[in-house]
Amino acid sequence: MKKIALTMIFAGATLMAADGAALFAKCAGCHGQDGKTKALGKSAPIAGMSADEIVKDLEGYKAGTLNKHGMGGVMKGQAAALSADDMKALADYISKLGK
Ligand code: HEC
Repeated sequence: MKKIALTMIFAGATLMAADGAALFAKCAGCHGQDGKTKALGKSAPIAGMSADEIVKDLEGYKAGTLNKHGMGGVMKGQAAALSADDMKALADYISKLGK
């Protein structure tokens, strides 16, 4: 019984943690499943960017202060709903794409 309860706690924790792969589904339409597509023909490929750089970019887009290729407004909409945990999970996932 104790074992079952523990298993349930772990399963719950996994479900609650931000899931980079699931979050990335929303990004893949523009950035590509492998993160190598230039989104709307403008962005740099994001696969292989460092996790720190990705978090910094997403924070900048969310704040509306980042505009690298003249299309920051598009990313502002994408980043608006992301929590700090979401950004970290996404950055971790994206930084490992294409490796
Ligand atoms: C509607 C298309 C679209 C979607 C969906 C989208 N992006 Fe973007 N993304 C762009 C565009 C366009 C740019 C270039 C923005 C600019 O001018 O700075 C960009 C830029 C970026 C950059 C910086 C790349 C560079 O050029 O240095 C990162 C990182 C990024 N996006 C991550 C994400 C993540 C993570 C998601 C999902 C939460 C996402 N994007 C969803 C279109 C999109």
